[in-house]
Amino acid sequence: MGAMNDLFDAVDDTLTSVSLASATDLADFRHHARRLLGQHIAPAQVSWHCRDAPTLDLFANDPIEDHTRSTDNKVVLSPALVTVPADFLALCQTVILHSDPQRFGLLYRLLWRLAHEPGLRHDPLDADRMEAARLAHAVRRDMHKMKAFVRFRPLEDEVFRSQPLGGPLHMAWFEPQHHIVAAITPFFARRFSQMRWAILTPECSVHWDGARAQLGPGAHRDEAPPADAGEQLWLTYYQHIFNPARLKLKMMQKEMPRRYWHNLPEAQFISALSASAAERQVHMIQNLPSEPLRRIPAAPLAAKAVALGQLALAPDQRLTLSTLKAAAEKCRNCPIGQHATQAVCGEGPLFARLMVVGEQPGDQEDLHGRPFVGPAGQLFDRALAELGYLRSSMYVTNAVKHFKFEPRGRRRMHKTPSQSEAAACLHWLETEIELVKPSAVLALGATAASSVLGRRVAVLSERGQWLTRSDGLPVLVTLHPAALLRMPEQDQATAYAHWLTDLKQALELTDVTARRESSQQ
Ligand code: URA
Repeated sequence: MGAMNDLFDAVDDTLTSVSLASATDLADFRHHARRLLGQHIAPAQVSWHCRDAPTLDLFANDPIEDHTRSTDNKVVLSPALVTVPADFLALCQTVILHSDPQRFGLLYRLLWRLAHEPGLRHDPLDADRMEAARLAHAVRRDMHKMKAFVRFRPLEDEVFRSQPLGGPLHMAWFEPQHHIVAAITPFFARRFSQMRWAILTPECSVHWDGARAQLGPGAHRDEAPPADAGEQLWLTYYQHIFNPARLKLKMMQKEMPRRYWHNLPEAQFISALSASAAERQVHMIQNLPSEPLRRIPAAPLAAKAVALGQLALAPDQRLTLSTLKAAAEKCRNCPIGQHATQAVCGEGPLFARLMVVGEQPGDQEDLHGRPFVGPAGQLFDRALAELGYLRSSMYVTNAVKHFKFEPRGRRRMHKTPSQSEAAACLHWLETEIELVKPSAVLALGATAASSVLGRRVAVLSERGQWLTRSDGLPVLVTLHPAALLRMPEQDQATAYAHWLTDLKQALELTDVTARRESSQQ
């Protein structure tokens, strides 16, 4: 410290006031820091301020160009002045987003000391370095929490009313602790690129129209939409998936600090659900999973011929969904069939406009012989109810007709069917498409999408857009509901909102087609 004090004493004590363009403008900070350093103005002689106003167009400012990086990856602030370690710039970029008004002074002091104290870069325990690391950590944590706790609510705004195909605006209210909104916007733009959204915060707001992000002024909590039916559904869903056996209250509060609770609709249940956790856990242990009701013995080899797509119809017998089910029941084209309780074919009206295709029956479907009756199906039903549709208006089926599982103790754990197993089942699905003649197909998850489209499908990048099969049938791909159920809790609400917009597109197209067809009749 002695050497540093000498340096500080060496300059006169007139204060230099620096006024930065905004609280987060690193380029402006660097410009002033270089100038001050070049003029040998010591940190104690500088007083930092900012004339803060959010930039109105987020991408109007080019990203900060790093003209200063030399070939050996050192950051050269000015060839004549000082070189600093490469990670110092990254540190500045993060620390500048902290709300502590002292951050500029701290960063300039570090820069000054790096220029004058060669040993500083090798002293990670230095108080200034530790303070900067603490601020950077707090900023990163705030960004992490914003990614986890933003809750969008659909809002049917002006744009939606004039162009409903663009989907509703999804709006969220959030109160970050630091100046992170602009920095985190690219994350939300990437993640929710296909939907229109806006995040309001007290300091500024950001709006994504599907192509471009715009920063705007701060907002008030009341400007965000109130809870809606979707949120009610999310709350029911949250209570439903709360697993008392996995509750770790301290860990949960560490991950989801109380200060975020007032913006998290599900937080209202935490106390009650945790209070009843112990009792529910006992109940779960007492109610072990159900045993399969019956097993169909492996079919004799002769039955394979029947199942190989030739439905063994008598000359006067018509191909119907029930003859199809009877034949699929005996199918042993792949090894899955012999272990399942029964084949589960689709159900729904024969001429449904929309055919929904899932992956394969799960444990509950296998026991009941009906598609989508377990937890994934319940989530699908809730989503339909929220969107105002009935499952009974659509034909719901799976790409694979038997349940593939791995026994684990008394439980049967779902196993994803292989490509060859899905291929062995394809003719059942194609026969269903031929019989039902839907106007469109909604494929839930990768197995369904690949079976329906006849190619590998990357669900996350192809979801939510109308694709066309070679026979002209429109197909919309989205996530499987089980994927939502398996997601980390903090991602579920936003993923669920996004999923609803995909489902809505499929439902609306088939609704419109139905209306057009009935008006032509
Ligand atoms: N998952 C599916 O893909 N289909 C079902 O029927 C149930 C769960």
